Amino acid sequence: MQKIKPGYILDNKYEIKEIIAKGAMGAVYKAEVKQTKEIVALKVPLPEFDRDLSSLQRFRQSEKIQFILAHPNIVKAFKPQHEKSSPYLVMEYINGPSLEYLINHNRRLSLEDATNYTIQMCGVIDYLQQNKVIHHDIKPSNIVVNSQKQLKLTDFGIAFCQSMEAEIWASLVSIGGTLAYMAPEKIRDHALNDYRSDIYSLGVLMYHMFTGKLPFNGSTEEVIGAQITQNFLSPSVLNPQITPTIERVILKAMEPNPNERYQHVMIIKEDLERAISMSARKSKPLKITLIPERGIPIWILYVILGAVILAATSMIIYVNLH
Ligand SMILES: Nc1ncnc2c1ncn2[C@@H]1O[C@H](COP(=O)(O)OP(=O)(O)O)[C@@H](O)[C@H]1O
Ligand SMILES: [Mg+2]
Repeated sequence: MQKIKPGYILDNKYEIKEIIAKGAMGAVYKAEVKQTKEIVALKVPLPEFDRDLSSLQRFRQSEKIQFILAHPNIVKAFKPQHEKSSPYLVMEYINGPSLEYLINHNRRLSLEDATNYTIQMCGVIDYLQQNKVIHHDIKPSNIVVNSQKQLKLTDFGIAFCQSMEAEIWASLVSIGGTLAYMAPEKIRDHALNDYRSDIYSLGVLMYHMFTGKLPFNGSTEEVIGAQITQNFLSPSVLNPQITPTIERVILKAMEPNPNERYQHVMIIKEDLERAISMSARKSKPLKITLIPERGIPIWILYVILGAVILAATSMIIYVNLH
């Protein structure tokens, strides 16, 4: 697998076109199915995976979860093939950048985009909860955005689904997740399987999208301390467009105590939509009507006024001359 580069043909089936991303665990490639010319994305773990049974097992499980899920905001994975030379995941190719790239390159997203993306994420997380799946790694680099501004969640590498043996899952994902987006209860106990930790990650994602900044940084102790004491800049300080009502939604999603957090993502969606429409109403400029709308248009009044002034001036000149 080490020699994978553009032009390489994998399993006599996929021609590698380009590398999309390279991570610590493997790489994602754009490839063409030789027979059908269809463009797909391949996620290929590092060759070490082949020798590490637990990583292999984890990879196979994530492949299975992503294949079973079917939602417009989740990257579609193709049926796992057993005849493959080594493990790799075949997915639909999304032509677009990751959400991480968009946030970093735009300093922060517009209020409209941040709201639109949050609402889409609420729909995905709701779908996952209905299917008893916890993603456990919701963050911008695991979300790809297509040209229609449609989000596609991917990377189910440490996801949990109810049909899995919780203890086996916990032993396979001992070093999973990303500190900056992780709920405090997850940092304390990585084996915890509570869907509300995905809601917390969504809260941090909202903070990041609406402000362009992450609320926390630093060591595990520093992050957990700042999470519990909620010691971070208020979103509205970083972005004055954020009204107190929008801010309340972000902060409630990031509540350190899971019982005080939003218990359901669709309530986040409703509250955010309400907050945004309130702020739009407030910021709309007042419509000042000088004369009744169906009355004489203002320009006619100006013409009449101009004509009167002209007539009066001519009259004065005439009187003075005679
Ligand atoms: N199906 C896809 N189509 C296009 N780009 C993708 C696809 N899947 C992943 N990517 C890109 O590859 C990056 C890494 O993918 P990811 O599955 O998160 O791998 P890792 O395990 O290295 O984190 C993503 O941030 C995204 O930019
Ligand atoms: Mg990832």
